[in-house]
Amino acid sequence: MKVFIDAQRCQGHGRCFSLAPSVFGFDELGNGHVLGDGVVEGESLALARLAEANCPEHAISIGES
Ligand code: F3S
Repeated sequence: MKVFIDAQRCQGHGRCFSLAPSVFGFDELGNGHVLGDGVVEGESLALARLAEANCPEHAISIGES
């Protein structure tokens, strides 16, 4: 699976990189971005799903890689 952040929706709430620092980072404005190629599995997928559920802007999505 692959995780995405919609930069148009992200408002920098930071829950993604707080909950899943192995999956998400943040830029100089504090907006979240996906680390590496975004491919997640196992524990990383579970953390990505947790972040997806907790993003107030619904900016995170997970789809087929
Ligand atoms: Fe942005 Fe949502 Fe993360 S608003 S910083 S993608 S928790």
